[in-house]
Amino acid sequence: MDNWISAFMMLWLIICVGSSPLSVVVHMSSKVGLPAVLPCSVASHLESDHTPHIQWQTISYSVFERMGQEQFQGEAYRNRADVPEELLVRGNCSLFLQDVRFSDAGIYESYLVYGESNIKNRIFIQSVHLAVIDHKAIKSVEIGADLILDLYTHQAEQVIFQNGNETDWTVLWEKDGVINKKGYLKKRDNKLIIRRVTASSAGTYTVLDSEGLALSTVKVKVTEPVLTKETETLQMQSASGKLYTNNVNFT
Ligand SMILES: *[C@@H]1O[C@H](CO)[C@@H](O)[C@H](O)[C@H]1NC(C)=O
Ligand SMILES: *[C@@H]1O[C@H](CO)[C@@H](O)[C@H](O)[C@H]1NC(C)=O
Repeated sequence: MDNWISAFMMLWLIICVGSSPLSVVVHMSSKVGLPAVLPCSVASHLESDHTPHIQWQTISYSVFERMGQEQFQGEAYRNRADVPEELLVRGNCSLFLQDVRFSDAGIYESYLVYGESNIKNRIFIQSVHLAVIDHKAIKSVEIGADLILDLYTHQAEQVIFQNGNETDWTVLWEKDGVINKKGYLKKRDNKLIIRRVTASSAGTYTVLDSEGLALSTVKVKVTEPVLTKETETLQMQSASGKLYTNNVNFT
């Protein structure tokens, strides 16, 4: 019985220590290719006459460090990480990440560094668990209209397609490649445009990164064009005038 009570007390102690404000882990998720802001605040530690010196790191790597205008970006975060100076002077040490990658997933920790040049100390500020997820969507496109696929990021290397009834995948587009199947693919602003879809354009479109991981999966349904009242009247007129017939269902 005593053992049970002491075990219970231990558990209670662990919970209390574990839940002190500084050690709360923030869990967040970001979609691959988009920006993410990892929250952090040093407002309560700020000394007005000091530019804060902040460090962000993962378990194994340096991510970003800022001391006034001086900054350092870790190798894997080159041109993608920042703690904006104008926010930092106000005590906001949030880490801004651009073009999030699957490999960015993990635990991030921020520290406030203080002390004179030769004796430095640091205070742990915030721990953030970042999950990175892929994009998923269902789209419906009319026959004859254009299908626009978002590539989201320069990480996109390939777009593959699986027709609704088949098990094989065909490569529709490749970065730096010459694959341009029927001349109906066009790329603009990180978007792939598939011109004038037909019934056989229905299926699954998957955007892959260089490791073959799916950045985005879009299931596309192809529908008959919806007729407006105007086109309906025109077609009725032409049907009566020139014996024009068509098999499009009026809706
Ligand atoms: C820091 O700035 C970002 C971007 O403006 C904002 O989203 C966030 O809420 C701010 N955090 C704090 C603690 O003020
Ligand atoms: C898929 O198969 C069904 C019948 O099994 C057929 O009606 C449909 O047209 C096929 N779709 C495509 C895109 O080939």
